[in-house]
This record gives sequence, structure tokens and C-alpha cells, in this order.
Amino acid sequence: MTAAAIILAAGLGTRMRSSRPKVMHPLGGRPMIRHLLGAVEARFGRVVVVVGPDMPELEAAVAPHRVAVQRERLGTAHAALQAMPQLGGHDGDVAVLYGDNPLVTEATLGRLLTARAEADLVLLAMRPADPGRYGRVVTAADGNVDCIVEWADATETERAIGLCNAGVVCAASGDMARWLAAVGNDNAKGEYYLTDLVALARAEGKRVHAVEAPEAELRGINSRAELAAAEATLQARLRAAALDAGVTMLAPETVFLSHDTSFGPDVTLEPHIVCGPGVSVEEGAIIRAFSHLEGCVVKREAIVGPYARLRPGTVVEARAHVGNFVELKATTLGEGAKANHLAYLGDATIGAGANIGAGTITCNYDGVNKHRTEIGEDAFIGSDTALVAPVKVGARALVGAGSVITANVPDDALAIARGRQTVFAGRGFKGKGKSRPDDRSAEGREGLNRPAAPKEQI
Ligand code: UD1
Ligand code: MG
Repeated sequence: MTAAAIILAAGLGTRMRSSRPKVMHPLGGRPMIRHLLGAVEARFGRVVVVVGPDMPELEAAVAPHRVAVQRERLGTAHAALQAMPQLGGHDGDVAVLYGDNPLVTEATLGRLLTARAEADLVLLAMRPADPGRYGRVVTAADGNVDCIVEWADATETERAIGLCNAGVVCAASGDMARWLAAVGNDNAKGEYYLTDLVALARAEGKRVHAVEAPEAELRGINSRAELAAAEATLQARLRAAALDAGVTMLAPETVFLSHDTSFGPDVTLEPHIVCGPGVSVEEGAIIRAFSHLEGCVVKREAIVGPYARLRPGTVVEARAHVGNFVELKATTLGEGAKANHLAYLGDATIGAGANIGAGTITCNYDGVNKHRTEIGEDAFIGSDTALVAPVKVGARALVGAGSVITANVPDDALAIARGRQTVFAGRGFKGKGKSRPDDRSAEGREGLNRPAAPKEQI
């Protein structure tokens, strides 16, 4: 019989000072509860999440798992008890985990389940550099855990103990149900503490063992500072996995990844890159410094950046180039196409081999709706072109620099849409040698007063 898991997530997270449920705060681009569920789903056949009465966002995030609602927040044992009816006759092991403990790994949960062979109640414990306000794990000479003392109830001697409760316990379902029902609330906070399970088990003469794991994996998140520390741990894991997968990083500590960032082999990441959720970078691609990517695919041997921004829905096809200060949104840049400088390409399909000049803008939004721009293969868009969508530029078409393109351009055509240049012979700048534009003197200002061109000539 596979084990069942109860995840506690009904707490208000007061120390986060947030209107959001604590476990919905993101780590590596997804809510912390989803990280925990990832590890739990690998080891437990059935999962129930305990939520508060006013947390629809959280209920949606844990779907399709069952939820139990804790109407009054009376403590961690009370919360776990609310989930027991949802386990409906499950008679294997039951573990209780805290939703604010999201970095615990599948491997450590495996060790916890294995340890049940030797003990009636097992728990995860750690030795943090700063034990702070964690519950302290009091052990007996025979190796059993005697009790867990909450920081608020602990004596100075107990607070000096380095072994801390991580907040994961596991026992046979019958024992779990009996102990949870027996927990009282006679303590400093007047709460029903899950940690009291240990003393109840010991009172029955049961064996209680602690399984130790590193602090980085077991730290609880109660404040923004602890959230930032957990993010640092997760980023270190994600970078290590990318390096293992064959990615070159010049300065890994400056690269920020999401839980689902995917890399092919021989990708190069220069310093200072941020990958939001949904980024896939294929073999041999290079992402240059200071680029920001989310929801996009960068295909084989493409080059992106420096200073590029790829927004959701973007596909950079094989060997295409995206250069500095270029933003792409919901746009496919065809194979080998180039947009190397200062451009905004939104809601566009750009054919293979096309060249997008510096300063090109797709005017995709009319204030109400978004419209698409299509550019054919090997088209050449001159610098500083505005493409007023919806509009199509044909294959191999040439658009003159500075054009405002409002109508379709056929294949192989040249389009120029800009004011003609007018030249006035002998009417050049007369102030040379007398003043410069930054000369603040009265004389200097006069020097800039050139006669206006006759109206009809402008
Ligand atoms: C808890 C432990 C402490 C341990 C620490 C590890 C208890 C009494 N204390 O303290 O020994 O060292 O975690 O991180 O268990 N929750 C509910 N309903 C409630 C109260 C809490 O669902 O009525 C949930 C919270 O959402 C949270 C989890 O239980 O996910 C833990 O609660 P929290 O208030 O964070 O407990 P800690 O003070 O961190
Ligand atoms: Mg906590």
C-alpha cells in the first residue's frame, strides 16, 4: 500500500506581511506549494492539502489533489486532523508535511519512508547554522526522540539544542489518527501542535526516530528573508543541473533560471541572464549578456543579445540573430533571419533569411486590438520602418529606410513610404564659428536664429 501525504497550507503567513497565502509565493517562477507537490507526488500515492476557508487561488494551484478546509486556524495538529476524513479508509502510512517547507527532495522523502521500517514514528530534522525559532528535537540516550519542544515553550537549555524539527512526520494511519485526536493545546500559543505527536508516541512506548537532512533542503519559509534564502538555494540547484546538462556559463551566479528552463547541450550563457517560466534553449545557441527571456523557444545555434528581451510566444528559429535592445513578443523570427539592433517585433511572423533594420517597429496595437505583421522570406526592411499592422510584406521585398508601411507590399517589390527630401542651396547653417548650440550667451542664441523656409517649400 502506498503512503498518503497531508500538506498543511492553511496558515495566514503573518510574517510574510502579504495578502497572498504564504505557499503561493513563487520560487523559481512557480508557487512554493507546487515545488513541494512535485517531490511529494513522486513518493506518495494520495495527497490532501489543508487550506484556509478563503484561499481559492491556492485550491486552484493544488488541483487535482483533494483539499480539506481548516475553518479555524487552531494549530498544525488541528490542521492535519481536518484532512484525515479525506483519506477515506487508507490504512498505509500517512505523512504530514508543511507547505512552507518546499525544497525537501524526493530522495529525502524516500529516506523518511524507509526509516519507518525501524520506527513507529519518523520525522525529518536538521542542524541549521542559526536554529532561530525552530522547534527543538530532544533525543534520548537510546537514539529515540523523546519530544519536540516549540521555541516559545522551550527553556534556555532546550533552546541550546542544535537539532531542529523540519516539520515532516510519518506513521501508520491508525497511530496517526489516534495521536492527532489526543493532542491538546496547553502551551504558550494555545495551539494544537503537531509536534506533540512525539511525546504521545513515546508515552505509548513507541520508537521515534529522526532522519537528518541538510538545512538548505528543510528550511521553513516564514518571512521574505527566508523566501529569498530559499530562492538562492533553488537557483543554485537549477544552475548545477544546467551545467550538468552541458551548458557553459561564464558566471553562473549571475544567471537566474525557472523551475522549467530547458537547455540543449552546448548552449552558452553569458553573464546576467534572466529566464522566466517556459524558456527552452536548444543545442548550440548563445544567449549573450543582460538578456531577459520568458515563454520562448530559442532554436539551434541562434544568437540572442546582448540586451535582448524575448517575451511569451516568441520563437527564434535556428541560426537567427536577435541583437541589442530588440524586443520580440508572440513573434517567430525565421531561420537565419536577423534583427540586430533596436527593434520591437510584436505579433509578427518573419520569414527565413529576412533582415530587419535598426529601429524597426511593428505597430501591432490600435488601442483596442492586436494585429499581425507578416514578413516574407529574405525580405529586407530598411532602418526605422514602422509596419502598421495588419500588414504583409512579401518575400524578397525591399522597404526603404524610414518608411511607414500601411499597405501590403507584394513579393519582390520595393516600397518607400516617407516624405521626400527637399534641398535649399546656400541656406546652410550660418552661425559656424560664432556659436554652438550649447552656448548659453545671448549672442549664441541669436546665432541659431536662421530664417524660416517659405511655407510652400516645406
Ligand atoms: C513549525 C513547527 C516547528 C518547526 C517549523 C519548521 C509546529 C507547532 N511547529 O513552526 O516545530 O521547527 O514548523 O519549519 O508545528 N498551518 C495550518 N494551520 C494552522 C497552523 C499552521 O495549516 O492552524 C500550516 C501553515 O500554513 C504552514 C505550516 O502549517 O505551512 C507550519 O506552520 P507555521 O506557522 O509556519 O509553523 P512554524 O512556526 O514555522
Ligand atoms: Mg513555518
